[in-house]
Amino acid sequence: MPIHSRLRPEEKQGEILREYLNIVRSFRQYLDKRGLNQRSKDEDPERRLKEFHSSILTCRGCSLYRTRTHLVFGRGNSGAKIMLVGEAPGREEDLEGRPFVGAAGKLLAQELARAGLRNEDIYIANVLKCRPPGNRDPLPEEIEACLPYLKRQIGILHPRIICSLGKFATQVLLSTQQGITSLRGKPQLYEEDIIIIPTLHPAACIYNPSWGNLLLRDLELVKRKLSG
Ligand code: URA
Repeated sequence: MPIHSRLRPEEKQGEILREYLNIVRSFRQYLDKRGLNQRSKDEDPERRLKEFHSSILTCRGCSLYRTRTHLVFGRGNSGAKIMLVGEAPGREEDLEGRPFVGAAGKLLAQELARAGLRNEDIYIANVLKCRPPGNRDPLPEEIEACLPYLKRQIGILHPRIICSLGKFATQVLLSTQQGITSLRGKPQLYEEDIIIIPTLHPAACIYNPSWGNLLLRDLELVKRKLSG
């Protein structure tokens, strides 16, 4: 009996996704061997990220440049296979110029460690690079101006897994209006060969401590997918 017919629907979906990704990876390896893989020709993500960062430091693509202290580009290992994507910098991030250094970042670091993920395993960035005043929700014109920056970062890093933190990043990356509670923990495909695993935003887990376990569970799934 084919393996798919013995699985529950969500397991079946996971199995098909895995098979699909294996085919894409094999094809990439084939192209690599023949020197035909365009992507692997310019493999210096560290340099490319630095150059890209410098090129947008003085961005005035939306009105947030007026109130920012720093443009918060991203941090972490440019060779990481896991990319975490949050919403936008908060007060501390704006002051320091680095994402997730405030209370939400501390909770995230704690849960990453509990899931067995190390700092060198990840790269982390936000959808918006500048802080919305008072941490208000991002506006459509801000997202429109800033999303190409995130997409470029994803293109340079080419992670195997993106873990979207919270409703906002998840909806933007998956172009959906579905709520985070129904999306979290369910792997989806982003472009041709990147898996997105949506999870709860760590800031939301500060206010709902019982959600911390769900965040942990999703990060453990990220870790399993990486080694699977
Ligand atoms: N929340 C986010 O979404 N990003 C940060 O960098 C900090 C808090």
